[in-house]
Amino acid sequence: MSLFITFEGPDGSGKSTQARLLVESLHAQGLPALLTREPGGTEIGEQIRNVILSTRNRAMQDQAEVLLFSAARAQIVAALIRPALAAGKIVICDRFYDSTLAYQGYGLGLDLDALRAITRFATGGLVPDLTFYVDVPVEIGLARRQRGETNRLDQKEVAYHTRVRNGYLELARAEPQRFIVIDGTRAIDQVQQEIRARLLPELHARR
Ligand code: ADP
Ligand code: TYD
Repeated sequence: MSLFITFEGPDGSGKSTQARLLVESLHAQGLPALLTREPGGTEIGEQIRNVILSTRNRAMQDQAEVLLFSAARAQIVAALIRPALAAGKIVICDRFYDSTLAYQGYGLGLDLDALRAITRFATGGLVPDLTFYVDVPVEIGLARRQRGETNRLDQKEVAYHTRVRNGYLELARAEPQRFIVIDGTRAIDQVQQEIRARLLPELHARR
């Protein structure tokens, strides 16, 4: 049984926490699950991540940003995700191409059709079986995130993050069979319980 699950959400929505807890619970059930993240997840991807996030790179152009995210994605798909799926694993990826549509498409205003074409090239057409979209209002996500260190992308304005969130909600509405929208404003364990409950029928259907 292979299954490709992605987690999406605004910055600070708690999706990394939730992805990690879900993998721990799958492991506890003896299921072969692999956790990875974008941008990054491979040695080359982590190097690209550093270029994208470095505050030294303030001069980075939007198109360059898209292509760097896409380069990291091409690497992780071919080197890690596809082989793991072929080996029958459950792959859980913290962010995937919906992040590009939400952040660079809705956030920066780049052409969505162009982004979809670049994404298809990078992924070879790989689409998640299931996407948990962890939704929080922008102010909550930004407040949670302030506890961590800051990177280049953290310097975007609130209006940008609002466009990103609304973009995600539109993506989720357009593909209700793939997206599961989760209210991320609740306590960590409550959110996790809902995610596990929503995943259960999907796991059973694939056994
Ligand atoms: P993301 O990956 O979406 O940016 P993280 O999982 O890294 O979010 O969480 C960002 C911060 O918010 C962390 O300090 C984390 O402990 C905290 N956090 C995560 N989920 C919740 C929650 N449901 N309620 C309160 N704080 C949370
Ligand atoms: P990360 O540290 O993973 O942030 P978070 O904990 O919020 O997930 O940094 C990833 C940042 O990159 C985040 O602000 C979202 C952004 N991003 C894009 O803008 N486009 C993309 O395609 C991806 C994968 C991420």
